[in-house]
Amino acid sequence: MTCVVFGVTGGIAAYKAVEVVRRLAERGLDVRVIMTEHATRLVGPDTFRAVSGNPVSVRLFDAPGPAMEHISLARAADLVVVAPATANILAKMAHGLADDLLSTTLLATRAPVLVAPAMNREMYRHPATQDNLRKLRERGVHVVGPESGALACGEEGEGRMAEPPAIVEAALHILGLRGDLSGHRVLVTAGGTREPLDPVRFIGNRSSGKMGHALAETARELGAEVVLVSGPTSLPAPPGVERVMVETAEEMRREVLSRFAGCSAVVMAAAVADFTPARKSEEKIKRGGREGLTVELVPTPDILGELCARRSPGQVLVGFAAETGDLLEKARKKLDDKGVDILVANDVSRPGFGFDSDLNQAVILFRDGREEELDVMPKRELALRIWKAVSGLLGSVGGQVPAQT
Ligand SMILES: Cc1cc2nc3c(=O)[nH]c(=O)nc-3n(C[C@H](O)[C@H](O)[C@H](O)COP(=O)(O)O)c2cc1C
Repeated sequence: MTCVVFGVTGGIAAYKAVEVVRRLAERGLDVRVIMTEHATRLVGPDTFRAVSGNPVSVRLFDAPGPAMEHISLARAADLVVVAPATANILAKMAHGLADDLLSTTLLATRAPVLVAPAMNREMYRHPATQDNLRKLRERGVHVVGPESGALACGEEGEGRMAEPPAIVEAALHILGLRGDLSGHRVLVTAGGTREPLDPVRFIGNRSSGKMGHALAETARELGAEVVLVSGPTSLPAPPGVERVMVETAEEMRREVLSRFAGCSAVVMAAAVADFTPARKSEEKIKRGGREGLTVELVPTPDILGELCARRSPGQVLVGFAAETGDLLEKARKKLDDKGVDILVANDVSRPGFGFDSDLNQAVILFRDGREEELDVMPKRELALRIWKAVSGLLGSVGGQVPAQT
């Protein structure tokens, strides 16, 4: 089993390291966390123990583990990651100091090392820190980030730790565990569309965009180049993903079709409106003593249908069916009618799952008749299951995947 020794130092971003460890463990890696004493002041070792599934080491002496744990961990590691990496640990690494378990392990290991620096921008800019990073780079240490943005100290600038998916991607890349989607370009749609009635009102739906964003984020982690076409959402764009924001079904159609060529797979997770007002009032519709208001609706374009009609051999198409009742029957019909390769069906009438939830329960239906009924799971996990299904079909759906443009 591939072993990642994961060092957590005393930076405020230590809480984000929990997510990195969780994701590495989720990928089947044996993650052994070493925390510095200062890091334990910011996040409890039990949190890392829970997400890694392994004991967490802190002390060099008087520790419950083996007497020479720094040596056993240094030898076991296929990769050592330090995230967040404080200015202090970078300085110690650069100068070969070994005064605690993490720095001693770092000096004793022959495994590749990846650091994710995180600190206040003045600390980052300081010539000492810059010098230390340069030394480490020259020595072959991999560095991910930092990024610019709002810092915990209230300042803006460079010094923010790279986001968890970027650290995971860098770690997997160093380990040679390129994802199943490596070399592929995929397109994902997310969120609901808004069909305008007048300049201030629209017909929308309850989609939050969480499923589509989870799909985009996980595709990126699996090595794909990802385009995400999203309806309005408050979710941030996943790191490393090109996100195109749209409002209406027609805008979504335009953006999706113009990017379709060269994509190995398209997953349409967006809740696209089926109908749109026949006319949009240029002025805000006034109550003005009216008895009522009748709105005429016309069908929106069938984006999935158009994709199916235009697909090149090898392109995998995935649709979603959010149904209320008779789930499997309706989903199988949609799969056949549209001609998609995979249909992910979920019953959105069940409280607690589906729209706006972090959880989902779905059945994955394949064109060849297979069905995979899944338990309730976080949307990220469902996204990974969907990409597994997609990667199983890539290159086998009527020929070769088209060359990327
Ligand atoms: C609340 C808090 C947040 C801190 N955040 C950072 C940080 O983001 N980056 C950093 O280099 N130091 C940060 N420090 C300072 C380090 O904790 C300090 O330099 C410490 O000696 C680092 O020890 P370690 O590298 O062994 O964990 C922070 C200190 C405190 C009290």
